[in-house]
Amino acid sequence: MVSAPSVPKLRRASTNDAAALALLRNQLKDHFFSPIDATPEKTLELLQESQTYVAEANDIVIGSCAIYNRQDIIAEFGRLMVDAQYQGHGYGKALLEHAMGQAQQDGILCLRLTAKIRNTAAYRLYRWAGFKAKSVDLCLGTVEMDYWFA
Ligand SMILES: CC(C)(COP(=O)(O)OP(=O)(O)OC[C@H]1O[C@@H](n2cnc3c(N)ncnc32)[C@H](O)[C@@H]1OP(=O)(O)O)[C@@H](O)C(=O)NCCC(=O)NCCS
Repeated sequence: MVSAPSVPKLRRASTNDAAALALLRNQLKDHFFSPIDATPEKTLELLQESQTYVAEANDIVIGSCAIYNRQDIIAEFGRLMVDAQYQGHGYGKALLEHAMGQAQQDGILCLRLTAKIRNTAAYRLYRWAGFKAKSVDLCLGTVEMDYWFA
């Protein structure tokens, strides 16, 4: 683990972040559903159809999350990831809180997500933020959660 600044720098992702985000996604791929490696080109497409936020430490991108597939007042939250070397410093919390605040400002009333049941770190983080488990699929090993803004 490396030392990290106490106040994370958060910003909206730009197209220039595609390569760094693809690398990060591939480092953490076991936690996600698709086994296919990310490429900068595919990541660029995802950036263009989502609102993606990144966290920086020491001027490098070390984490991200995204809001996408908006349908009226409901949208999906996902692609949350923090570089393994920087985990445990509050970046995950900061990214999630930031994205939730932006979603609320944008008029979204509900965020939905799907996580792997065995992903304890993510599940605890989502519970901490107020997400509630709605359903569990034991065959797929997934839990669906949602958060309604009051
Ligand atoms: C989930 C993830 C984003 C958390 O990022 P992080 O920066 O380490 O998280 P934080 O330091 O902000 O910790 C926030 C909370 O998450 C939970 N958490 C984080 N790491 C944990 C761990 N190893 N075990 C259990 N809970 C953990 C805790 O509730 C923690 O709060 P606490 O420190 O007050 O107990 C990070 O572990 C990650 O990138 N994992 C791989 C990708 C992934 O699983 N993404 C989610 C897909 S659904």
